[in-house]
Amino acid sequence: MKVSLSGPLKGETTVPGDKSMTHRAIIFSSIAEGRSVIEGALLGEDCLSTVEIFRQLGVTIDLDGERLLIDSPGFNAFAEPAQVLDTGNSGTTTRLLAGLLTGLPFRTVLSGDASIARRPMKRIIAPLQQMKAAISGSYNDTRTPLIIEPSAVKGIHYEMPVASAQVKSAILLAGLHADTTLTIKEKVASRDHTETMLPLYGVDISRDEVITLSPGAINQVRPYDFRVPGDISSAAFLIVAALITPGSELTLRNVGINPTRDGIIEVVRQMGGDITVSDVTDDGEPTATIRVRYTSDLEPLTIEGEMIPRLIDEIPVIALLMTQAAGTSLIRDAGELKVKETNRIDAVVRELTKIGFKLTATEDGMIVQEGRNDIRAAVDSCGDHRIGMMLAVATLITGELDIDDFDSINVSFPGFMEQFKQLGV
Ligand code: S3P
Repeated sequence: MKVSLSGPLKGETTVPGDKSMTHRAIIFSSIAEGRSVIEGALLGEDCLSTVEIFRQLGVTIDLDGERLLIDSPGFNAFAEPAQVLDTGNSGTTTRLLAGLLTGLPFRTVLSGDASIARRPMKRIIAPLQQMKAAISGSYNDTRTPLIIEPSAVKGIHYEMPVASAQVKSAILLAGLHADTTLTIKEKVASRDHTETMLPLYGVDISRDEVITLSPGAINQVRPYDFRVPGDISSAAFLIVAALITPGSELTLRNVGINPTRDGIIEVVRQMGGDITVSDVTDDGEPTATIRVRYTSDLEPLTIEGEMIPRLIDEIPVIALLMTQAAGTSLIRDAGELKVKETNRIDAVVRELTKIGFKLTATEDGMIVQEGRNDIRAAVDSCGDHRIGMMLAVATLITGELDIDDFDSINVSFPGFMEQFKQLGV
């Protein structure tokens, strides 16, 4: 598809609901017997995959304007599905549900699209098997489809080998069924929405040096009405677009600023970008108003270490931002990018290089130089929503681009192009 954005972003808007929190709200509401309401849910394709699966398990889920109404018979009354549960393009659905479904008294099978079929599953299968869950995967327990049989799950102590909220959450959701205590230790913190949101739905979780879940927690889950903040990962595209486009002045309201997710704000500040955060609310999941203005003299930056999980999904668009800084920037310790919807180190470097930007892939990140040679070429989202949206933002610099497979953006940001139009672009 030919995509072209031009002109400053001006005005005020909100972004669609947070993808990670919407998945969790759907999951926790579906476990709880009774009615829960989700306000501001993201209705992108990934979250709809989660909705469809719970419908197959016997949960009634209706859309009422922007609200999801969830009426559940409760986890213990789920119905055995007649078909494979289709997780689409969604890693969060695949991994979190793999943990949750270990507690069912019948077999379930989880399978997704071609991208899901390439993504590593050993990282959840291994700890779940340690918990005595009867889960197996294709290719010697490394890939989907995942087959989950009834089992009696036990609590374990698990030290996380990678910073992954999907792995941590899969273990916690299996732990809801355990008849002994579960503890998890993270070396580097990953997003903590499961830990912040489960207590809202009635579950006792303690969080000190380790995360602890007591036996029988599944019986604590109660209905709750959750309001989903705007997704900072979607806001990132508008933030970068405003920073790099002369004349832009943008206000984003109700953006989620959970400290395990707000790395982009710190990066923009460190690069000298004109960004301010105000109107902070904090009832469980904090939100704020973010104001951004075009900044002509951005400085290069190195991002690495514990910062990486706080902005992992924003790295494609942060790499684009770095091309506009005066000097060479570096992204390190981000090997996890290789196992996202696509290999995002290769995809970012390859697609941006095609149109003249100067990036080099490294083993665990990339080197981003300033400037660009004006080269015209078709680019490809590689079926990855965040690569597609990053390339659309790049057209503010390059002019029109032909972006293959642009529809992939519907996974996380429906109305992406309309949002830009509304801001005068
Ligand atoms: C997510 C966790 C992250 C992130 C993904 C959503 C979640 O993945 O990249 O988009 O909702 O838990 P990892 O857990 O693989 O790091």
